[in-house]
Amino acid sequence: MQSYKIAAIPADGIGPEVIAAGLQALEALERREGTFKLDITHFDWGSDYYRRNGAMMPADGIERLKAFDAIFFGAVGAPDVPDHVTLWGLRLPICQGFDQYANVRPTKILPGIVSPLAGVKPGDLDWVIVRENSEGEYSGHGGRAHRGLPEEVGTEVAIFTRVGVTRIMRYAFKLAQSRPRKFLTVVTKSNAQRHGMVMWDEIAAEVAREFPDVTWDKMLVDAMTVRMTLKPQSLDTIVATNLHADILSDLAGALAGSLGVAPTGNIDPERRFPSMFEPIHGSAFDITGKGIANPVATFWTAAQMLEHLGQPNAAKRLMHAVETVTGSGVTTPDVGGTATTRQVTDAVCEAIRGSN
Ligand code: NAI
Ligand code: MG
Repeated sequence: MQSYKIAAIPADGIGPEVIAAGLQALEALERREGTFKLDITHFDWGSDYYRRNGAMMPADGIERLKAFDAIFFGAVGAPDVPDHVTLWGLRLPICQGFDQYANVRPTKILPGIVSPLAGVKPGDLDWVIVRENSEGEYSGHGGRAHRGLPEEVGTEVAIFTRVGVTRIMRYAFKLAQSRPRKFLTVVTKSNAQRHGMVMWDEIAAEVAREFPDVTWDKMLVDAMTVRMTLKPQSLDTIVATNLHADILSDLAGALAGSLGVAPTGNIDPERRFPSMFEPIHGSAFDITGKGIANPVATFWTAAQMLEHLGQPNAAKRLMHAVETVTGSGVTTPDVGGTATTRQVTDAVCEAIRGSN
């Protein structure tokens, strides 16, 4: 039997609620499949840990995570700790420390979930957004001078490297090639940003030659928001920079019905390090403790994790169970239902047990 070591880091807000739900579904799958075992280790890192220890995780945190096959992550963020501290203290060091350069964000309209776009049904919106996850606008390059004075300056420098852009482009073309439509849209802003973004366009054209069976087109990021909203059927696989894809994938989540259903994998495609799987949403302190957090994004990212670990059948079974449950109307209030996190989770586990 295959066994995998999973690090569970629920962290803040609704993170612990959705990770508990995800683990319950994974346990049901493990029993139903009988072909693999998950060895889960829990880490109490996050904002509570920060209040006690002055850091979001221990100094050797990254070192300790190296031994795992994958990381199952909740969310960071607390009302009383600055967001750049929580983000740069835990989530970004893991992404960067493990060179998880491909951030993969599938979005589709699940059965029973209504898109805010009039007339758009399941099947009309089925995308995967690939976000460059190691450099670009979030490389942390920049600084502040003359702090607090009227002449204060702040710079935030976007870093694009040939190595970084080429590898994410190859990943995106390969992913597009694996999907039925074999169609990729490359997003930039190369009209206004004439250095790094023009290099993106050039590298896209170079890499495209390695994939003659993939059709591709280019969009400027502002026009892309219009196309996503008005012509969702015209898109399939999408690749964009760290910042652009961050924004576009929130829009994608909303167009698919809720942030509560949008998953993401932070992937090291070379498998030198563990990859990290998480819902896209944050810690949602407005609904923390109310028992109504939508666990679907976490189930979906658990399916991404199983796929990555080499258990595609389990991944399919999990997604099938999720779609059965959303289709039957058992959903949380963020997508118009009345069910609690626990009711949705129990229904998904039941669907897993009853699946053939
Ligand atoms: P958020 O994603 O936590 O919440 C945005 C809105 O969506 C809220 O109204 C929330 O109730 C709702 N929502 C989110 N997830 C939901 C779910 N599973 N079920 C039902 N409703 C859900 O984003 P917000 O409010 O901007 O940020 C809150 C905190 O989370 C901040 O500290 C922020 O920095 C952090 N954050 C962390 C992320 C991460 O860990 N990856 C990502 C985004 C934000
Ligand atoms: Mg975001």
